[in-house]
Amino acid sequence: PRQNTLALIKPNSAQEHKAEILEEIKSKGFAIKNQQEKYLSEEVAEEFYKEHKDKPFFSQLVQFICSGPCLQLVLSKENAVEDWRMMMGPTDPNRAKEVSPDSLRARFGSDILHNAVHGSSSVEQSDREIRLLFGDLSAAVTSTEG
Ligand code: CMP
Repeated sequence: PRQNTLALIKPNSAQEHKAEILEEIKSKGFAIKNQQEKYLSEEVAEEFYKEHKDKPFFSQLVQFICSGPCLQLVLSKENAVEDWRMMMGPTDPNRAKEVSPDSLRARFGSDILHNAVHGSSSVEQSDREIRLLFGDLSAAVTSTEG
């Protein structure tokens, strides 16, 4: 089925590799239904990553994601959630370099915290994340470019 997914190009990657990442996303057949480049507030970042709030790396994660503007994208295609996760590669860039060297995390990530990109883990998570970052789900997923 056609799905939406929320893709986040994290700070530094959003500045340094934006054009290349956007080209690759389009070449893989994703429609970009919405995009905005902005800082996440600490409050939004904590809510975005709330499933990790008890992890030892939580405060570092929030600090990093708020350290510069993120490129926030609503991507759409058949099987978008899984296909974007494939494009990203494994969470840890060091593992990504071994098993998926062409992936975005292998190419642009430096360590598990600074791993370049994020993607929703399910359609339900995607809806939640889009609502959180774009405010209104149905408005955010109404395509203007096909
Ligand atoms: P992301 O897909 O954005 O979702 C949660 C993030 O937590 C993940 O990417 C990593 O950047 C980060 N993360 C996961 N495990 C660790 C860890 N052990 N140390 C630091 N950061 C981590």
